[in-house]
Amino acid sequence: MNFRRCLMMMVEPIERPRFDLAGVLGGGTGVDFERSLQVRAAHLREPRVIDAASCMWLLQCSAEQWQPLPSDPQARADVLTLLELGLLVSDDPAHAQALAIEQQVRDSHWWPLSALHYQHSRWDGVDSLGDMQRSQLVTAQDLVRSFGAPPAEAPPRREGARALPRCGDDPMQAQLQARATCRNFDTGRALPLPLLARLLQQVLMAQAQVETDPGVRFLKKNVPSAGSLHPLEAYVVVRHVEGLAAGLYHYHAVAHELAPLPTQPGDLPGFCLRLLAGQDWFADAHVLLVLVCRFERSYWKYRGHAKAYRAVTLDAGHVSQALYSAATAQGLGAFVTAAINELEAERAFGLQAMTEGALAVCGLGWRAGAMTTAELDPIGRVWPAPRPPGNGTPQR
Ligand SMILES: Cc1cc2nc3c(=O)[nH]c(=O)nc-3n(C[C@H](O)[C@H](O)[C@H](O)COP(=O)(O)O)c2cc1C
Repeated sequence: MNFRRCLMMMVEPIERPRFDLAGVLGGGTGVDFERSLQVRAAHLREPRVIDAASCMWLLQCSAEQWQPLPSDPQARADVLTLLELGLLVSDDPAHAQALAIEQQVRDSHWWPLSALHYQHSRWDGVDSLGDMQRSQLVTAQDLVRSFGAPPAEAPPRREGARALPRCGDDPMQAQLQARATCRNFDTGRALPLPLLARLLQQVLMAQAQVETDPGVRFLKKNVPSAGSLHPLEAYVVVRHVEGLAAGLYHYHAVAHELAPLPTQPGDLPGFCLRLLAGQDWFADAHVLLVLVCRFERSYWKYRGHAKAYRAVTLDAGHVSQALYSAATAQGLGAFVTAAINELEAERAFGLQAMTEGALAVCGLGWRAGAMTTAELDPIGRVWPAPRPPGNGTPQR
């Protein structure tokens, strides 16, 4: 059996405070710090804790050259432990699956720090609402109580600045002002299918294609995309659309069609709530659009590129703003959130982790008649008689 180190990894020295009874008795503060070395690898979901000697050995082990198992029993045992942890890979058929997963990340052209960031910032089973409530960080007042006042809402004004004219009768401005993140959907009224189709056509549909080489095509959409690569796909969760069965679909941007997925969740409302990390104010939107990036499409051009991951997240931002605008123009509410359980999407849509993955979830639908969850509409363009519950400015 031969082995080598996984290619993309980092060591994070951790210091966790712990109660130190002996310290208190000896007149100390009673707080001690427990130190450990946590290794994060781009192909592994969970960090691994190893001792300093193994860590030094690991850092010196080649990630490129295979080497045989050492004959010394202790060294061999150490290698086998690191193999079990997944920090080493081997050509032994018993470890074939681990090798394939590491090889796939190796071949993916991720910039290593982005790969580590993306892998280890994916959520599974997170209840963000519950977490906010438990730590009493729900409203702006809660945040100020815990963290003090935030940095100023805008930097100081500068000397010599030139005042600009304000335009009073700009129709575009009126429409932009009518946008507010919607957290109150009307669950009693279905969304007409042509309305959903219209929004998909405006925001996500390919308006044209350009063929630069035989079989090499680039799409033109109404939203910009880094490198003109449009690596974002939309998986559509239909909750309440006239003439369309509730469930999971994939939207095809060239064909402008929705294909039902072969596997559907048994409990669609539960799936939505888990996907949205417990944010119940979004979960009953008529339609959710899960923006899934095909990283390999972007990284075909931006190989090992320090800006590539940033660019795909910016792409997602452009799609979400376009959706907000298109929905607002139709009298609908929309939202975007990055507080999502990515692994819920990966399982439901059958995505291959690190090759494709969810970056954000957008949603849209009819607004409810009354505001139950707070929205930010201080100028009353969405809720003509503003009546937010309590005085809580939403802090999501
Ligand atoms: C990248 C991004 C992530 C967001 N995530 C959440 C979220 O997790 N939950 C939520 O309720 N709102 C979320 N929002 C909406 C913001 O809270 C909202 O934009 C902000 O409060 C300003 O309100 P407005 O959109 O109505 O102007 C997000 C917005 C953006 C752009």
